[in-house]
Amino acid sequence: MKLFGKSEERWVTALRRYRSSKGIKRIKVSDCVCQAKIFDHVRIRDKILFEIERDVCSETSGGDEPYNVSDRVSKLDWTKADDFNRPWVKIFLPHFKKTMNSFLAEMGYALYDLDQMWYQQYLEGDTHGWHTHGGSYTGVYYLEFPAGSSKTQLYSPFDFKKHTIKAKEGDIIFFPTHFIHRGPPNTSEKKTIVSFNFKIDFADRAVSGVKPIQERVDGYILE
Ligand SMILES: [Fe+2]
Repeated sequence: MKLFGKSEERWVTALRRYRSSKGIKRIKVSDCVCQAKIFDHVRIRDKILFEIERDVCSETSGGDEPYNVSDRVSKLDWTKADDFNRPWVKIFLPHFKKTMNSFLAEMGYALYDLDQMWYQQYLEGDTHGWHTHGGSYTGVYYLEFPAGSSKTQLYSPFDFKKHTIKAKEGDIIFFPTHFIHRGPPNTSEKKTIVSFNFKIDFADRAVSGVKPIQERVDGYILE
């Protein structure tokens, strides 16, 4: 089955038709997108943007997608996503960890393993087409998000209903990586987001009691 036709409506229609004809029953189990404010966003915003601005990264994305989906992001550092010593990451990480720990406590997990973190800078008209990620969870930190910036959209895997995230600058969202999502064409002059992938572990909390939350970045456990 070709999932991505010429238009989004066509592939969603195809998915809905396919699922109702192949005898696979869906059992609804609620899932969620988590939304929070990043700890002390106002204090780190300009410092991170300054480092991103002077990052000589010449990477762009687009044109090599296997699907018939337009994709263009003007500046990003995806190929360095597992290097946690980049200047902007070093500023962001302590704040990210504080917010992450609230997320983990909220969801009942014991441990996370941060695999990748990268920025994406969208100029007017830039877009990141429909896609999924690896790992357990992904997310978006809206670092520079002026009025008119395009908002993250995702499809619920249960019924393929489309959701648009009502985010404000300084917000961060977390959602399972299998959710099909996109950054629609940007309508502001510039928006800058931080994306990340991480795995979570329940670590047998139900049996062994509440364990302290552990963070692992690039395989190392952080105290
Ligand atoms: Fe994504």
